[in-house]
Amino acid sequence: MTRLWTASDLLEATGGTLDTPFGADGISIDTRTVRPGDLFIALVGEGRDGHAFVPDALAKGAAGAMVHRDIPGATPLLRVDDTLAALARLGGFARFRTQAKTVAVTGSVGKTTTKEMLRTILSAFGPTHAAEASYNNHWGLPLTLTRLPRDAVYCVVEIGMNHAGEIAPLAGLARPHVAIVTTVEKAHIGYLGSIEAIADEKASIVSGLEPGGIAILPLDSPQFPRLRAAVRDRTVMTFGASQGATGRLMDMEPDADSSVVLAEIAGREVRFRLNAPGRHMAMNAIAALTATLALGLDPHIAARALENFAPLAGRGTRRKLALPAGNALLLDESYNGNGASMRAALDVLRLQPARRRIAALGDMLELGTAGPSEHTGLAEAVAQSADLLFACGPLMRHLFDAVPAHLRGGYAADSAALAPMLAGAIAAGDAVLVKGSLGSRMKRVVDMLDALVPADKGFA
Ligand SMILES: Nc1ncnc2c1ncn2[C@@H]1O[C@H](COP(=O)(O)OP(=O)(O)OP(=O)(O)O)[C@@H](O)[C@H]1O
Ligand SMILES: [Mg+2]
Repeated sequence: MTRLWTASDLLEATGGTLDTPFGADGISIDTRTVRPGDLFIALVGEGRDGHAFVPDALAKGAAGAMVHRDIPGATPLLRVDDTLAALARLGGFARFRTQAKTVAVTGSVGKTTTKEMLRTILSAFGPTHAAEASYNNHWGLPLTLTRLPRDAVYCVVEIGMNHAGEIAPLAGLARPHVAIVTTVEKAHIGYLGSIEAIADEKASIVSGLEPGGIAILPLDSPQFPRLRAAVRDRTVMTFGASQGATGRLMDMEPDADSSVVLAEIAGREVRFRLNAPGRHMAMNAIAALTATLALGLDPHIAARALENFAPLAGRGTRRKLALPAGNALLLDESYNGNGASMRAALDVLRLQPARRRIAALGDMLELGTAGPSEHTGLAEAVAQSADLLFACGPLMRHLFDAVPAHLRGGYAADSAALAPMLAGAIAAGDAVLVKGSLGSRMKRVVDMLDALVPADKGFA
């Protein structure tokens, strides 16, 4: 079988030079995960220069390394002008040569979840390649494309942004046949300035659409008219609960750990069980099913396949904590947090049959001047869903002070200090939601709760 990257493709794609011809079966940017036969790309990042790791990568069996500086004694090398720019060229080349139908997912929340739902669905139809983890930026997206197997029939990528202008160039590399905007919410508003600016940025994904490509937009969003106007003459499909949506949520039976969803996809009724609770998850699923329709695939087969979907680490995974006096339930949402996903997670907390529902929340970051009001704005949702609030971080202080006194379980400066406080308070029968921006490091709270479970009693 032809290698993923032959020597001639590497040269043609990058415009570089090879000291000894070599091909590669995979692409790596990290010596901790490099595999024999990979091309190791020496990227220069914050405080780290991949060039220093080239000898290590080669010792671990890398087929060769792509560099823009000499590494004495290291061979074989693919020399380029700039490794990051050459990575993008490799990604563009991979996209150019593939026959795979490509779906790109952007949006304020739900990108990775929707991407993984599409991976699950499309794998039922043919060989599917999807981005690893949340790889959605200037290196994550091209890296995903460089790894695209030659026989892939479908490719699903994620496109993210922190600042204006970041989406269009990535969309231009991915050239999707179908582009989804999951949501438009106040995430990263500190950098973007307004919700309208966020909508415009998301809509710019259509600049990369293939001719005849289809944009899938959230009909229920207050920003829908703006998105719709921005994509102009492109073919549009919509999803949501509103009348007229191409993929429409008709009804759902919410349960503590799953939902039965009734949807109409282009007028055809589709019913399926989704092993991830919450209306937000049902909406992601309907966006994914609408994308499947846009690819010309059968939504019924897609919905059956979707029943194999499970939540991702830190985004709604749940586990029992076997405490000495009985079980408690942990809802691990520690991966990320903003206003929209906080409300979604609190809704799921409310569904849990528990003695006490506890919300342990850390700061939502990158909100700029909207920070304090975005935090106090959660007070009502907390009061509706939680019996107790544990909070940490300077911004969550605003929320902690805004909730009624009987809900105040405890406040700490940071997650390291909150963890023991919560660990001391949790009891059998409780359901605990742990959530905050990645930078608030709520994973430390999750880790301490996990550690409460005697090793022989732990189960995932
Ligand atoms: N449609 C949605 N509405 C609200 N919250 C959602 C939605 N989809 C997912 N979430 C929640 O948002 C958080 C992040 O989900 P996910 O990782 O899918 O988003 P993302 O857009 O990929 O995030 P990132 O920008 O960090 O890559 C999780 O807590 C998840 O449960
Ligand atoms: Mg993501």
